[in-house]
Amino acid sequence: MSDAVVPHTTSNAGIPVESDADSLTAGGVGPILLHDHYLIEKMAQFNRERVPERVVHAKGGGAYGSFRVTHDVSRYTKADLFQPGRTTDLLIRFSTVAGELGTPDTWRDPRGFAVKFYTEQGNYDLVGNNTPVFFVRDPMMFQDFIRSQKRRPDTHLRDNDMQWDFWTLSPESAHMVTWLMGDRGVPKTWRHMNGYGSHTFLWANAGGEKFWIKYHFLTDQGVDFLTQAEADQLAGADPDAHLRDLYQAIERGDHPSWTLKVQVMPFDEARNYRFNPFDLTKVWPHSDYPLIEVGRMTLDRNPDDYHVHIEQAAFEPSNLVPGIGVSPDKMLLGRIFSYPDAHRYRVGPNYTQLPPNRPHVPVHSYAKDGPMRFEASGTGPVYAPNSYGGPAADTARFGEPLGWDVSGSMVREAYPLHSEDDDWGQAGTLVREVLDDAARDRLVSNVAGHLANGVSAPVLQRALQYWSSIDKSIGDRIAAALRG
Ligand code: HEM
Repeated sequence: MSDAVVPHTTSNAGIPVESDADSLTAGGVGPILLHDHYLIEKMAQFNRERVPERVVHAKGGGAYGSFRVTHDVSRYTKADLFQPGRTTDLLIRFSTVAGELGTPDTWRDPRGFAVKFYTEQGNYDLVGNNTPVFFVRDPMMFQDFIRSQKRRPDTHLRDNDMQWDFWTLSPESAHMVTWLMGDRGVPKTWRHMNGYGSHTFLWANAGGEKFWIKYHFLTDQGVDFLTQAEADQLAGADPDAHLRDLYQAIERGDHPSWTLKVQVMPFDEARNYRFNPFDLTKVWPHSDYPLIEVGRMTLDRNPDDYHVHIEQAAFEPSNLVPGIGVSPDKMLLGRIFSYPDAHRYRVGPNYTQLPPNRPHVPVHSYAKDGPMRFEASGTGPVYAPNSYGGPAADTARFGEPLGWDVSGSMVREAYPLHSEDDDWGQAGTLVREVLDDAARDRLVSNVAGHLANGVSAPVLQRALQYWSSIDKSIGDRIAAALRG
């Protein structure tokens, strides 16, 4: 028996409670009395313990760490966090996309890779995936795409027919589906995968010169994956395998790290580049734009309360700091609206005051009040302009929006085509030039296994055509594998 003095239980108001075990009744067998306030408080609090799970990326886990600049990229950006010598605290959350909270970590799916940097200029969020591309290129299609991955309204089951129906009717998905069905679709652990900003972003240096940027977080643990059989086995044996792996690695002092590199495209080269450099279904070949090292991200601290720090974490691509901006990628522009909207619904309008979301610099905004606001607004004026010393925007320093020239009529149409734009080319290159023989064998087996499971005949026909359009030989091999 320990001699440690345990504190006495209190109600949420700090009042000592009479019992941890017995509710207040009228006589030993009598009914429970409504004025057992402590019992009511326990039941009511319990009923409100959850915030809604994220509509996508519900299952995940995360950790705190830091980012240290190792190479000078100040000629490309003036962003404080990327200046020589800087170290910046951060929070990361890894996730699967389609499954709900509690679904296995080893289901085949892209993985979220969301980083919140607590910079000297406010929070900078890079909300990426473990894939450099995505399934669609217009935000109008995102909701439909996600529904095809989730559950049917009638059976409440996930449905491979829906998935292949959507993908084969949306050929721009080919590149991402090839990633997903290959080894990258089930990483060995979160520590063994790369992260990508995926979109093209805009950087500006102190002189105002602009560059288009793609971010690559390359794992220092080495890329590793699970076969479909290993993933299926773990899904039953240890559905939280990736969550457990990250937690245990950090606890034993084996701090995972990633090297951040960027591709840099001079601003004026975008217009005539052979691919549309803002199309989220495309990568920029490294032969055109080599990787330039920036620094290292290391994770070294587990959250002490999962709900507070991870469930309530609110990542938003709209958190951009001076020196970093968006590009004309329509998906990115759509996401700028979507995330803060999701957080106001899921966590509440004052989500930015919670520990994982609170900036590490003073906040001088004119926002006030609302549910659960707990930081006082102070005695200053609550309106601008004012003559009583309230915050004033420093337009001379921060007034110029980071962007590009626009003109033209309002239209609803696809991006103008660049000379080598097409939906199949980069997917075919991935199959032929990036995968080796063994990886191609696993791709064939993964696709055939998926297609053999509940896909209707017309959709199956289209799927075989889809793979033949990516690469004739891989299409033939998938068809042969399905014939058995
Ligand atoms: C989560 C919307 C595309 C990466 C979410 C959430 C929404 C959303 C509403 C839930 C946020 C929350 O409740 O906390 C969208 C829309 C997209 C889009 C509308 C396209 C128009 C993408 C793309 C990527 C991505 C292209 C990666 C490159 C993520 C990640 C999370 C997430 C990593 C989880 C963040 C976390 O860990 O909390 N998305 N998304 N999304 N999305 Fe997207």
